[in-house]
Amino acid sequence: MKTNLNLIGMEKGRQYETIITTKNSKNIKNAAPIGVICAGENKILNRIFKGSHTLENIISQKEFIVNITHDPNLFTVSLLGNLPEEYFNEDNSLKCADAYFKCNVISLTEAVKQSDPIKKNGEAIVIKSKVTELVINRPTHAMNRGFAYVIESLANLTRFDMVNDDKKEEYIKRFREANRVVVKVGYKEDIKAMHEIKKELIKKGYKP
Ligand SMILES: Cc1cc2nc3c(=O)[nH]c(=O)nc-3n(C[C@H](O)[C@H](O)[C@H](O)COP(=O)(O)O)c2cc1C
Repeated sequence: MKTNLNLIGMEKGRQYETIITTKNSKNIKNAAPIGVICAGENKILNRIFKGSHTLENIISQKEFIVNITHDPNLFTVSLLGNLPEEYFNEDNSLKCADAYFKCNVISLTEAVKQSDPIKKNGEAIVIKSKVTELVINRPTHAMNRGFAYVIESLANLTRFDMVNDDKKEEYIKRFREANRVVVKVGYKEDIKAMHEIKKELIKKGYKP
């Protein structure tokens, strides 16, 4: 049985965006977009805020499924409502997932990360889990937000000299936020690219 997360492009220390599917004690299925930090070949971490069905179900069932997809509508529908029953397989994975892996909870810890914009103590739980089975339906890489931010920051850079001072300040603010996210979740190549963009903005006389 496969359990190695490297097979879907996941690297230790990086964060990926996924759809986690869970069940409650009455077998009611739930899906929600949730970030997953790869903590090793077959270990992951999640930080989930209290109040979500996903957290309640993980605490009560001690197991869940991480679905890998690049479908924007799947992320949107599962965030804004819930996915209809017909989206789920018998084992609670998503039918249209490129890949999915089953997880068993190892530990649950109250935690707040200081760098996060949301800082209320005791509002989130960090969950450490072990991957028990990885199923790859088609070759795929788990979704990482870093690259999209690099492209967005490059696009803004090309417009920088064409806009007024207010818009320039807005681009600088957007760059800072993009850089914060890339440093947190991106690959080293993404971080290097953001560093180069930052140097260009400094050359233009700004402090990004
Ligand atoms: C891309 C993406 C990633 C997310 N990651 C997390 C996360 O890591 N932890 C968390 O608590 N909420 C996260 N959320 C927010 C949850 O999806 C949201 O709170 C959702 O309503 C929970 O649904 P549920 O009550 O069905 O579990 C994320 C949302 C998006 C769009």
